[in-house]
Amino acid sequence: DQSRQIAQTLAEFRLTKEQLLVVKRKMRIEIENGLGKQSHNTSTVKMLPTFVRSTPDGTEHGDFLALDLGGTNFRVLLVKIRSGKRRTVEMHNKIYAIPLEIMQGTGEELFDHIVHCISDFLDYMGMKNARLPLGFTFSFPCKQTSLDAGILIKWTKGFKATDCEGEDVVNLLREGIKRREEFDLDVVAVVNDTVGTMMTCAYEEPTCEIGLIAGTGSNACYMEEMRNIETVEGTEGRMCVNMEWGAFGDNGCLDDIRTKYDEAVDELSLNAGKQKYEKMCSGMYLGEIVRNILIDLTKRGFLFRGQISETLKTRGIFETKFLSQIESDRLALLQVRSILQQLGLDSTCDDSIIVKEVCGTVSRRAAQLCGAGMAAVVDKIRENRGLDHLDITVGVDGTLYKSGLPVMHQTVKELAPQCDVNFLLSEDGSGKGAALITAVGCRMRQQEQ
Ligand code: BG6
Ligand code: GLC
Repeated sequence: DQSRQIAQTLAEFRLTKEQLLVVKRKMRIEIENGLGKQSHNTSTVKMLPTFVRSTPDGTEHGDFLALDLGGTNFRVLLVKIRSGKRRTVEMHNKIYAIPLEIMQGTGEELFDHIVHCISDFLDYMGMKNARLPLGFTFSFPCKQTSLDAGILIKWTKGFKATDCEGEDVVNLLREGIKRREEFDLDVVAVVNDTVGTMMTCAYEEPTCEIGLIAGTGSNACYMEEMRNIETVEGTEGRMCVNMEWGAFGDNGCLDDIRTKYDEAVDELSLNAGKQKYEKMCSGMYLGEIVRNILIDLTKRGFLFRGQISETLKTRGIFETKFLSQIESDRLALLQVRSILQQLGLDSTCDDSIIVKEVCGTVSRRAAQLCGAGMAAVVDKIRENRGLDHLDITVGVDGTLYKSGLPVMHQTVKELAPQCDVNFLLSEDGSGKGAALITAVGCRMRQQEQ
């Protein structure tokens, strides 16, 4: 009876192909809404123009700085790109911490901290006096009117710094640099991490026209036909669109598949009611869904001898990395118990079997949902091009992709059978892509002059 009740609890997380097809169909509707001139204003999936009009062609060159803000790590990078017969990209980077009180302090403090890190990096590289062009990977929804202007629409994930929403983050960065009065930089481009990832992968693999992040947050971008993007002038060629698909479901359209555990996680988050799809798919939230299920199963007496420990009450204990370790098939139950032990959870053998199943079920749903969204994207591209069959590559990054990829791939195959989708893991993060975009931005500026 106990195992039947546990199975019942987890059954809500097991989505059928029909349910996933509905998700795909709803995503397609939101894609069209986001692209439309009128419907855009109320659409949950924002489909933001990025002003990136092509993937790299190999002629990009120069030395660039890049910032990478919004994933697990904040990074400052120096990227040296050489074109010609022997294309090379040389990268140097340093990771900096962003303390919680800065993520959630004032905007001025946040940007002062960022500029402080750039200053440290320039010292470290011995290049304070080189006024380098900079590409700013800023992994949040921004309304762009050009390559080098991006108004932050809303913070997502763990950020909450004041006085930034509604502001151009390039300006905030430039003002921070001015306040410091120590060095000068030329901010050329603001880039979403999905776009940076797509460009990084496209440099090696020209069929890459989609970027996907399965990490702290969840989002995708792709090359859309200009004629379909009604929110930008012009009908010629293509432009990369940052979908901001994390907000899918914010109008309630996914409520029928959301569980009470999803609702609990949402309610306790920094942005309740927002980013509902992201909260079912991405690393920042999966551990919390697991924790909420475990608490419920414990309350009902099925786990941990019915005792809810302080540890289990602690938000954020299940980091994504534990989740993927626990659900991994290669891990013996004894090792699962030892991980739980490290987290401060005393488990029996039976407990560890249940915990492993919970982790696996929650991750599997995340990968399937993400796959359903991707199926909508690839079919849209296929139809754009009037093809019966599409071969395409998706550049992927983020701490979640490794474990979730096979399930996601399988889901896309089933839901978009007319597309052959190749997933390419980004080895270099999105900084390289941001530098490539900056290179193009510099060239365009010179042409305009
Ligand atoms: C990194 C990219 O590799 O992946 C970042 O360079 C991106 O731009 C990040 O935000 C996403 O992964 P996570 O798991 O760190 O959020
Ligand atoms: C969040 C952000 C989005 C970003 C994604 C992945 O969804 O809003 O801009 O791409 O996280 O980092």
